Amino acid sequence: MMTMNWRRLCGALVLLVAGVSAHAATPGREKLSLDRGWLFHLGDIVQPPIKGHGESYGNAKAGNAAGAAGTEFDDSDWRHLDLPHDWAVEGPFDPSANVSQGYRPRGIGWYRRYLRVDAADRGRHFELQFDAIATHATVWVNGNVVNRNWSGYNASYIDITPYLRYGDAMNTIAIRADAEAMEGWWYEGAGMYRHAWLVKRDPVHVATDGVHATPVPPSGKGGQWTIPVEVTLNNSGKQAGGVTVEVTLFDPAGKQVLRRSATARVAALGASTVQLPLAVDAPALWSLEKTNLYRVTTRVLQDGKALDEVSLHTGFRTIRFDAAQGFFLNGVHVKLQGVCIHQDHAGVGVAVPDSVWEYRLRRLKELGVNAIRFSHNAPAAEVLDLVDRMGFVVMDENRNFNPSPDYLKQLEWMVKRDRHHPGVILWSVFNEEPEQATEVGYEMVRRMSAAVKALDDTRPVTAAMNGGFLTELNVSHAVDVVGSNYQVPDYDRYHKANPDKPFTSSEDTSAYMTRGEFKTVREKNLIASYDDDAAEWGNTHRDAWQAIATRPYVAGGFVWTGFDYRGEPTPNEWPSVSSVFGIMDLNGFPKNAYYIHQVQWIKDRPLIHIAPHWNWSGSEGKEIRVMVMANVERVQLLLNGRLLGEQKVDQYRMNNFNVAYAPGKLEAIGYNGGKEVARTAVETTGAAVALELVPDRAQLAGDGRDAMPITVRALDAQGRAVPLADAQVTFAVTGGGRSIGHGNGDPNSHEDEKGATRRLFNGLAQLIVQSRYDSAEAISVTATAAGLAPARIDIPVRAVPAQPYVESAEAPLTLVRSWRIAPDSAQRPDPNQQLASFDMNTWGWGSPPMIAPAAAKYHLYRASFTPRKNLADGSGVIRFASVRGKAEVWLNGQLIGRKENYSPAAFELALPAGAGTREINVLIEAEAGQASGIEGHVSIAPRLLAK
Ligand code: GAL
Repeated sequence: MMTMNWRRLCGALVLLVAGVSAHAATPGREKLSLDRGWLFHLGDIVQPPIKGHGESYGNAKAGNAAGAAGTEFDDSDWRHLDLPHDWAVEGPFDPSANVSQGYRPRGIGWYRRYLRVDAADRGRHFELQFDAIATHATVWVNGNVVNRNWSGYNASYIDITPYLRYGDAMNTIAIRADAEAMEGWWYEGAGMYRHAWLVKRDPVHVATDGVHATPVPPSGKGGQWTIPVEVTLNNSGKQAGGVTVEVTLFDPAGKQVLRRSATARVAALGASTVQLPLAVDAPALWSLEKTNLYRVTTRVLQDGKALDEVSLHTGFRTIRFDAAQGFFLNGVHVKLQGVCIHQDHAGVGVAVPDSVWEYRLRRLKELGVNAIRFSHNAPAAEVLDLVDRMGFVVMDENRNFNPSPDYLKQLEWMVKRDRHHPGVILWSVFNEEPEQATEVGYEMVRRMSAAVKALDDTRPVTAAMNGGFLTELNVSHAVDVVGSNYQVPDYDRYHKANPDKPFTSSEDTSAYMTRGEFKTVREKNLIASYDDDAAEWGNTHRDAWQAIATRPYVAGGFVWTGFDYRGEPTPNEWPSVSSVFGIMDLNGFPKNAYYIHQVQWIKDRPLIHIAPHWNWSGSEGKEIRVMVMANVERVQLLLNGRLLGEQKVDQYRMNNFNVAYAPGKLEAIGYNGGKEVARTAVETTGAAVALELVPDRAQLAGDGRDAMPITVRALDAQGRAVPLADAQVTFAVTGGGRSIGHGNGDPNSHEDEKGATRRLFNGLAQLIVQSRYDSAEAISVTATAAGLAPARIDIPVRAVPAQPYVESAEAPLTLVRSWRIAPDSAQRPDPNQQLASFDMNTWGWGSPPMIAPAAAKYHLYRASFTPRKNLADGSGVIRFASVRGKAEVWLNGQLIGRKENYSPAAFELALPAGAGTREINVLIEAEAGQASGIEGHVSIAPRLLAK
């Protein structure tokens, strides 16, 4: 027993000394991308039941997580990939899978990654950040369970400092993502679909999301704005830290406006908050048109040296929900022209590159959207940054309706992360909850609202209610703004009974249309685009907007939905796999609803559109319903130059004409004050003869992240896009990028979203290409299809500095870590002597360095290890980094090698071929009067990697 304690102590002392001597850590904060270098296994990895006392005892100990969660697991045959990653979108559709999840089996998956941490970084604070993992995620670091997250929409911030090993010793991150768990009734994807980060900081640092910097408007006219900045500091160090916290405000041009500082003391393993209110005169306001963003930079200084620095942007704007007149931004009335959106896109599922989000939001901007409800969960942080930059207001929504501590943390996380965004104007605590009409719901929301207000009292709290707001006691009594999902017939009743309560539609419409279809064919699950069909609980696009637009007290609306999404193919089921509610399809291609809303929402320029296309071969002479959508006073419709009619524009119903079909040119002209202000036409095209590729942007950044959609279409001999083209197109992407998926907006398509081919659906498909890391090589994309001239484009790739990232680490050597140590003996012991599996005490425990003092001659060490599968052929070695004394090495009872001299030295032995767990016994003979033992790591490695 004595021996064991002494050895433990000895190991601990060595570590402690190393820790202190290496404390000269690099100061400052590094936020490194951890997107690269993951290993992935689809399916669960279930460990055999634990049996026997030895195994049970070991299983209960810190750092000993078994199987894929543990450090020694053999992942040599796992797939290599980079994040973001959604495995559900990679799989085939399955009619027996859940319709709500788009018939995409989800299941369980495992991720692992190795992490090497420089010895010079010892003493710094290390935090893992996972921006979201679908859906229930458990994270282990070096065999310790370090986090459990029960929401697929929330980030996890994990302090991994205590578990780290430095230098050559590898660290293992293991994640089990359980996507059997569902939080929604829409496609939720599966796996690590947002970014991952490793943040290195000084032990004394600003907590993650620890800067509260939300501007507060002047209380009276002519007063000053304030930002009551509050900084939360943490200290994971061994000593209390006295620091100066300095906050600087920069204007949109980057010019310093103000600087303030204060001192703080943070106890070891403690936290402190520092208040640094900033008073700001006449800031440039943030608005939908002028997105003036200020930067707040927080520095933590000690003896003049910066320990930490973090920046966020914010904006000055006032918001007000008026019960009679709706929403005001900076005192100016703004009707909320909103959309609800989920977070999946064609080809990529929920693993949407940030630049594709930019594309999606740009499409919404072009549509005239000014408000977005991220339904029914918080979006990625990068998306809210884009929102602020591009000029939208946002309803930020919490996923799980539950005020118990675990779930309240999810809501609090959202508020803390997002409260600096000027775009966020409403916190939504839930969507459509059965308890909304009851006292229970009221009590729950009261608590959730209080939790929000404690963190941010500058914005109203809402809840999206699909009923119940007229009962005696319900959720509406606990919110600031009542959100109504649908229930148009109750709008006026509610307002009459509650004239002082601000009110908005939080969700409306739920109308159906299939892009490019103008005839409803029920048996093919195709729905015409004339805006005639809506869910029973919803309204057509036109009816819903008319109800909202004509009621001043309704702050605005949020159309269900801006884009189609996978799952919820209502009113259809299999073979339909995605929704048809979108104003745009899954690619962001406009449906007719796009033009209906665009002419209603955009007022600063004349717009005119015609539906349908004009390719109706076989219908000559038959009447075709034509819808003209315009935001002007009058419209004329002409066929082949002949005036068919003129109408006063109906901004709510649009303008309908019945036209006897004749091929040619159908033209619409818009007039204001008798003057032509807009003109558009649809033309009968010839047959498709060639493919065309239209890139969304002129170039890509060569950072391995930038991605862009490319529109694929077919042209006739005159270069006109053929609206009904349905060619099967094959893609080839070479050079500095790759395809990451494609789509065509057909809700009934079961094509592989990652494969080499895609059929055009009603004339269109979309291919998404992404640059490679560290590339400046152009990307060449070709599209070919039978009978059509191929298309080719070259997308220039601009060299850009790589986003700082954590190097991928090779799968580690298997370290033989956990050793039993026999009592010292003067006589040579039998190296293969039995030790009962329940005997936890007669032999000691240890891991290298295990050096015994000079007292005894023989020392016996025993361990077991399982080599990786790729070494079963005998290509491995057992490597001893340093052994002091002579040594015999026995493997499964056989002597496999010796070290013949006493002096400390490295040596290695061939690992005999074979699979499975091996027992190793190392018998060391000390030189008289000298210490001896296993001094350095013992590892199992491929022969070539061993050194
Ligand atoms: C709403 C719900 C949405 C979506 C929509 C379809 O009730 O909030 O998530 O399901 O219906 O119409």
